[in-house]
Amino acid sequence: VETKVISTERVEIRYERDVVTARKLGREIAGDLGFDTVDSAKVATAISELARNIVLYGVAGEIEISAVVEDGERVGVRVVARDTGPGIANPELALRDGYTTSDGLGLGLPGTRRLMDQFELVTTPGQGTTVTVVKYPDR
Ligand SMILES: Nc1ncnc2c1ncn2[C@@H]1O[C@H](COP(=O)(O)OP(=O)(O)O)[C@@H](O)[C@H]1O
Ligand SMILES: [Mg+2]
Repeated sequence: VETKVISTERVEIRYERDVVTARKLGREIAGDLGFDTVDSAKVATAISELARNIVLYGVAGEIEISAVVEDGERVGVRVVARDTGPGIANPELALRDGYTTSDGLGLGLPGTRRLMDQFELVTTPGQGTTVTVVKYPDR
């Protein structure tokens, strides 16, 4: 599988308002690529969850949104959420439904994993967290 990056945009994430900015941009980029409302909403929701995790736990970071083409035909949206925060001590636990260290629902990471076609979580305690997700249109 060869993945070509067509375009990339970044939003710095520190405050709640940055979450809104990133979510809107993601919806826009997905729409421009021909994603329908449902698929665009999935991308926007994933960005929202990952960006909010940066605000809540990662302190500061960025959301990078790219248009990608897989094998020269399938167009998708890739989102990279990275921060230089405390990292996640037990990533397997963090991916379980209902696990939260705040008063959240604990569905952000597992829900995002279900919404997207590809999901990768890389985290180093004391150094930060990077979540990479890719969505291709369902219809
Ligand atoms: N970027 C991050 N940096 C550090 N910890 C994180 C990060 N994202 C998620 N976590 C940890 O994983 C847990 C689960 O995250 P999530 O599934 O989004 O649920 P919630 O945000 O509702 O707690 C969080 O409570 C937190 O402990
Ligand atoms: Mg969350």
